[in-house]
This record gives sequence, structure tokens and C-alpha cells, in this order.
Amino acid sequence: MSAPSLIPADAPGLARAAEILRSGGLVAFPTETVYGLGADATDETAVAKIYEAKGRPRFNPLISHVADAEAAFALGLFDQRARAVAEAFWPGPLSIVVKRAPDCPIAWLTSAGLDRIALRVPAHPVARELLRQTARPIAAPSANRSGRISPTAAEHVAAELGTRVDLILDAGPCAVGIESTVVDLSGARPVLLRPGGITREELAEVAGEIERPQDPGAEAPLVSPGMLSSHYAPDCAVRLNAETSREGEVHLGFGAAMAPGGLNLSPAGDLVEAAANLFGMLRRLDGRGAKGIAVAPIPERGLGVAINDRLRRAAAPR
Ligand code: TXA
Ligand code: MG
Repeated sequence: MSAPSLIPADAPGLARAAEILRSGGLVAFPTETVYGLGADATDETAVAKIYEAKGRPRFNPLISHVADAEAAFALGLFDQRARAVAEAFWPGPLSIVVKRAPDCPIAWLTSAGLDRIALRVPAHPVARELLRQTARPIAAPSANRSGRISPTAAEHVAAELGTRVDLILDAGPCAVGIESTVVDLSGARPVLLRPGGITREELAEVAGEIERPQDPGAEAPLVSPGMLSSHYAPDCAVRLNAETSREGEVHLGFGAAMAPGGLNLSPAGDLVEAAANLFGMLRRLDGRGAKGIAVAPIPERGLGVAINDRLRRAAAPR
């Protein structure tokens, strides 16, 4: 990857950024909360590059940004309450978690394998114009290296991500400066997953009573970041470091380790390709009704760290 250009978010800059996004590249762009590290949310490989650039040791589900509420309603299942919340707070610093619509094109890696997706319509005019021109949902976590603070200016992004991003759109400092509020509206009761730019009280006025994930007795599933239950797990057993499969198992291969009839995360041994294939292939193998999935060894470097983290969780006793 050549050196990133930090370019003004004017008409030529926006056109170039949209073109890069549409061809599977990474673009850092301003939102009203923080700068985001964006990729085409429907492109598994482009999304894998986000995790690689951030150096995230695990796959957390990412927010998909869209140009308007109508685009969001086409991707996720919004009931009356979710629509009311969307109409009250979008565009703005609120991300709404809903179930995927049938045939939702959001990549499995974007939602870390989950059947729920987080959607947001940002208010920043540059973000909105970029989304309009790209005409695809854009997955974007904050544009910092994993474990570091979120960038609220283009220079922070350049310092954090350097050459790991194809282009940085500079539109000055962010107005809100903290990340969006994340609310899960996929269940019976709204659950606040992350406090942020919209307060709990503001939300409650439209959504009704809101659960905190840690509320004792909360009926809603626990889905906050990093929690085991927020991760997709196959129904069948998972066995790791398996060069080949045993009777009754299907094999998830990597590189040369590949049993007949299985699927291969990356015949070439490419970790970006493997990350891009991970959740989709686990789902396909899980759907075959085998006794178990045997997974080839994955090297513990680069994206392999996040892949192995995910696989260890899938293989842990449940
Ligand atoms: O303000 C923001 O939200 C910024 C700007 C760029 O939009 N983005 C951001 O993304 O902060 P990120 O990836 O750092 O945070 C995503 C949050 C995490 O807490 C994640 O667990 C939650 O959203 N999330 C995303 N998808 C989810 C899902 N399907 N289910 C549950 N939580 C989800
Ligand atoms: Mg972040």
C-alpha cells in the first residue's frame, strides 16, 4: 500500500474516496462523532482489511453506515418502535441493532457472524455525501489502532494508521467527539449496549424503558461488546488444530491442510482471505448437519490472532 493521502473533503476528494470504497479499499472519513475507518460493508475481503489495519485481536461486530433511514429499513427488520427511534434520531449519533432482513447483503464479517446488524445514519455532511456517492453501506469502526483512543481529527488518523489506509478525507475536527450510542432494538425490550452521543433519557422518551445489559433480571440477551454471547457459535462441535477430519466431521481447511468434501478458508494460506471467509464458511458447514467441524491450524500472526480467538470461543465447552 502506498503512503496515504490526507486530502480535503471537497468534490474531487469525495469522488476519489467513493471510488476507492467501491473497489474494496479503505477510506478514513469524518462523522459527527469520530473519524471512521470505512470499507464496503457488503464485501467480506474489504471488511477483513479493516480488522487487519486496526490490529484488532478479535472480531467485534462493526456498525454499517447508510445514507438515510430508507436504506437502513431495507437492510434490517425495523418494527414500529425501531422506526420511531430511527426517525427521531437519524441522522445523528445513534446506532440501532436490528435483525438482518432476508437476503441482507451485509458481510458476515461485518456483524462478526451475528444475525443482527448495527446501522447508523451519520449527520456529518461529508459522511452523508460519501455514503450517497458510494451507494453501499459502509462498515466503519473508529479509525484508530486497537486499544487506542478514537480519533477526532484527520491528523490523529494519519498518526494512528499511517499507510494502513488508502485515503484519509480531512474535514477538520468532529463536533460530538464521542462515539455513537448503541441500542439493541431487536428484542422485546430496548437494551443500551454502549452509552454515547444520545443520552439514555433522550432515547427512553421515544423507545420506552431501556435495559442496561447488566440489569439483573433483564430478559433481553446480553450482547455487549466482548461478551461471549455476542458471538456467533456453530450448533455443532468444533475441533481445532485438525490437519484432517474424522468420521462424521466436516473439515474447514487452510492452505495445504484440506480434507476432501470440506471448505478451505484460503487455499493460498492468505489470512485476509481466511478472515473474509470465516463466518460464512462456518455457517455453511454448520448447516450440513455434521457431528462436528474440524478446523485446520491457523498461524497465530496478523489476522490469524483474531481468527484463532474466534475459533477458540467456538470450540469452548458450552
Ligand atoms: O460513533 C461511532 O459509532 C463510530 C463512528 C465511526 O460511526 N463508530 C464506532 O464503531 O465507534 P466501533 O466499531 O468502534 O463500535 C461498534 C459498537 C461496538 O460496541 C459493537 O459491539 C457494537 O457497536 N455493535 C456493532 N454491531 C453489533 C451487533 N450486531 N450486535 C451488538 N453490538 C453491535
Ligand atoms: Mg472504537
